[in-house]
Amino acid sequence: MSYTNEMRESIKKVNATRAKRLHEEYPQLTLEERAKILSAFHPDHKDEAFRKITVGPSKGEKAPNEFVDVLESYPLESPDEIDLNTIDYDVDILIIGGGGGGSAASLWAHMNGANVLMCTKLRHGEANTMMAQGGIQAAVSETDSPQIHYLDILGGGHFDNFPELVEAMANDAPGIIKWHEKLGVMYDKDEKNHMLIKHGGGTSRMRMHSARDYTGAVIMRTLKDEMENRKIPVLEYTAAIDLLLDDEGKAAGALLWNMETKEYKIARAKAVIVATGGFGRLHIQNFPTTNHYGATADGLVMIYRAGVKLAFMDAVQYHPTGAIWPEQIVGLLVTEKVRGLGAQVLNIDGIQFTYPLEPRDVESAKIIKECLEVKKGVPTPTGNIGVWLDSPLIELKLGKGAVKKNLPAMFRQYERFGIDISVDPILIYPTLHYQNGGGMINSDAETSVPNLFLAGEVAGGIHGRNRLMGNSLLDINVFGRRAGIAAAKRVKTVDIPKKLTFNHVKKYVEELKSAKIPEDRKSPVLLPDYSRIEKRVKRLSIF
Ligand code: FUM
Repeated sequence: MSYTNEMRESIKKVNATRAKRLHEEYPQLTLEERAKILSAFHPDHKDEAFRKITVGPSKGEKAPNEFVDVLESYPLESPDEIDLNTIDYDVDILIIGGGGGGSAASLWAHMNGANVLMCTKLRHGEANTMMAQGGIQAAVSETDSPQIHYLDILGGGHFDNFPELVEAMANDAPGIIKWHEKLGVMYDKDEKNHMLIKHGGGTSRMRMHSARDYTGAVIMRTLKDEMENRKIPVLEYTAAIDLLLDDEGKAAGALLWNMETKEYKIARAKAVIVATGGFGRLHIQNFPTTNHYGATADGLVMIYRAGVKLAFMDAVQYHPTGAIWPEQIVGLLVTEKVRGLGAQVLNIDGIQFTYPLEPRDVESAKIIKECLEVKKGVPTPTGNIGVWLDSPLIELKLGKGAVKKNLPAMFRQYERFGIDISVDPILIYPTLHYQNGGGMINSDAETSVPNLFLAGEVAGGIHGRNRLMGNSLLDINVFGRRAGIAAAKRVKTVDIPKKLTFNHVKKYVEELKSAKIPEDRKSPVLLPDYSRIEKRVKRLSIF
């Protein structure tokens, strides 16, 4: 499915303005202008898309309706009918989630002497980490420092981030890159073996390290290989559906569900690390998503029932450049690296209307404004609207062949539909990408529930209200490492939990009943439900 005749007419205008735009710099917005555009056009400012949580530790706080629905739901299991005395797996540390955060945590816990078990509802590595494209941030150049990285993260997050988490992340970043290189991650380098680094949106220095445009896949494969080398056991197709606490309220394991044999299993552990990712597949406000199939907020539901407070759940990240045509790939990521390499964002007339590397929330709001208010978007035959990302400009800036060389995955993604992105621009629109908020942790990645740790997107506060590019691949590694090390240290001083309980789940059920939550609502959602197809078709009506 190539471009339509109407799109081709618009592409002629893009081609006509390209040479003139080559050296054209669109000005960045001031802080006041950013605030104005966000409040008028960012989906987080659509009041009716949110409501207050009525039960649990974050009662009274605002979150997207779709998320509150799964949070305010009854357990899948009947707690009284589960035999908690028959233990199927007995380990030091149970790690829930098979992506980058869970893998980093497993490795560091194992390296620090713990007996570790990972469980994942899909296969090991089927996670957002695998799909991350553009890169990972770390301040390594002579003109950069962790302090400058720290300030960029705070600025991007609207200064709402929890400072001790930002400090941990910025400081640990260079060490993570060294660790990756030791394990075999091949970052892009120049002929002198110096790291090739680029800008991401909202960064004041170039610090984005990448492996072409499949950085996440390279990191994920390397961590997975290392787990296999170390023979760390992984239970695949095994979802955790509720945490288990001991009779003092400390984390003590989880109730697992074998999705193939349809059996419950009990995993007992002295510490638990939850690394289940975010909520992209809840399709907040009906947006399409870049997220993998398992991103259904299951970990958030479990930790919340166990008593972990959530932060910033009303801050949702829409990646400015999601594919909006061809229809088969609507919502998929078009990496920020395309703009990092020099592509501009253009309207139907081939005119720039935004600085291409504003922080993501601002860039998305500008694109939404151009399409919905200025009405200079490009319509698709399926009722969507998009703007152009001028990828051929990269060839003019960096030389012939630069698109294919730097963005081989993106090139192939479009080639399959007869579109050569080194010749024609890409039609994009914001897509649901990241959950900025999550469970609250300290700088050791531990929650307020003793012996319960979080790593990756399930945790909140690191990125404040808006994450910058490349800080997610970093976050999963930094807090995966910190969780793994802290949990391994903890289990040396903890006895095997004597009694496993669902007391917290029963208490939560009582709260749900008092709040008159309908009893047919069940969670966690293990896999997304696409049977409600009319919901997706009506996608654009909410913009
Ligand atoms: O645009 C991207 O490649 C996405 C990166 C990220 O979310 O960190």
